[in-house]
Amino acid sequence: MANNYVIIISIQAYPFCIISTKYIKLKDKIYEVFLMGIFILFFTLLIVATCKINELKNIQYNQPEYLADKKILTIYYSNNGNTKNVALNINYIVGGDIKEIELVEKNYPNNIFTMSKQVRKQIKEGVLPRIKDIDISDYDIIFVGSPIWNFSMSLPVKAFLKNNNFENKTLIPFFTYSGGAKKSRIVKEIEELTNTKDIKKPLFMFENRICLEKQQIIKWINNI
Ligand SMILES: Cc1cc2nc3c(=O)[nH]c(=O)nc-3n(C[C@H](O)[C@H](O)[C@H](O)COP(=O)(O)O)c2cc1C
Repeated sequence: MANNYVIIISIQAYPFCIISTKYIKLKDKIYEVFLMGIFILFFTLLIVATCKINELKNIQYNQPEYLADKKILTIYYSNNGNTKNVALNINYIVGGDIKEIELVEKNYPNNIFTMSKQVRKQIKEGVLPRIKDIDISDYDIIFVGSPIWNFSMSLPVKAFLKNNNFENKTLIPFFTYSGGAKKSRIVKEIEELTNTKDIKKPLFMFENRICLEKQQIIKWINNI
């Protein structure tokens, strides 16, 4: 009796075994194709990255014509140091002076949530923070750096652009960000705040792009 059950169960299980073996084979195939895909993608990325690194490594700085015999200022606002880092590199490459935009009242809170809340409130109310005066009258070329806040420039940099006269000056904006910015809108905003159209192509640099930063900056400055 027990033997009969075993036979019946075995006979009934047979089609399932075939199906499941086929299934496993199909799964294996998909898995193989998937692994192959990852492998190809990885090597393509590796080749692209190596080419990019080599291309950037060979970049040399030759002072472009638009900077020749000009008085250059690099000015920046930085809450966490990323924009400051890019500003220091720019200043090291092009020379001239470097200044920081400072707030009159105490700086933004260190806590990112409290800070974001304060920034959102200021944006909503159309309030710009009060910043310390900076004399830019001596300069012809101004590299101006800002972190991206809420897809736009930081408020202290907006205040700097609004408070100063940029007649006969060339503005060269640069930004650090973590992923999202309304790039063409930002250039329009700079035009509106400064009343000048003499604005060169901005640099947008990801906050974690550290190792080849200098070369990327040189490439940007050479090609503005
Ligand atoms: C209040 C606030 C808003 C931000 N909004 C954006 C944003 O909209 N898009 C983005 O890519 N990064 C955003 N970030 C990230 C900063 O732009 C990024 O970390 C930048 O490199 C910071 O520069 P800093 O170290 O010079 O302050 C935001 C950061 C803060 C504090």
